[in-house]
Amino acid sequence: MPVLEINRHTQDLNLEPDMPLLWALRDELGLTATKFGCGVAACGACTVHLDGEAARSCMLPLGGLQGRQVTTLEGLRDDALMQRLQAAWLAEQVPQCGYCQSGMLMAAHALLRRHPQPSEAQIEAAMTNLCRCGTYPRIRRALRRAQLP
Ligand code: FES
Ligand code: FES
Repeated sequence: MPVLEINRHTQDLNLEPDMPLLWALRDELGLTATKFGCGVAACGACTVHLDGEAARSCMLPLGGLQGRQVTTLEGLRDDALMQRLQAAWLAEQVPQCGYCQSGMLMAAHALLRRHPQPSEAQIEAAMTNLCRCGTYPRIRRALRRAQLP
């Protein structure tokens, strides 16, 4: 019965400790901004923040998350950096089908919080999520637009 901190709320979950976090978020807590893509930590659609760092929730068993801070896109609704990123995403018309974009935004947020003016290499290292629609060039432009001058 893992007790987790999710979006600054304590959640006492009556779930098996080997259940992946993604399942608990979507199916038990209704936090559906986080998407299921591959289930094997390859695509990044399920990206959340774990203690502020991007992490792929489809391969994170609940039992290993006690005492860690989990944040989903819903938890950053009032966050200034996330609002800046979303405005940049709109301005650059990044999404196509949109399926991957929650994960992209979570990865971008973790990147810009750590590196407010990231180098190309830092972007390369941080933005490893997959987009079947090929929005990568727009994501780059939106990231640059969202970074502080
Ligand atoms: S669903 Fe988790 S990385 Fe693809
Ligand atoms: S916008 Fe369609 S998968 Fe990325």
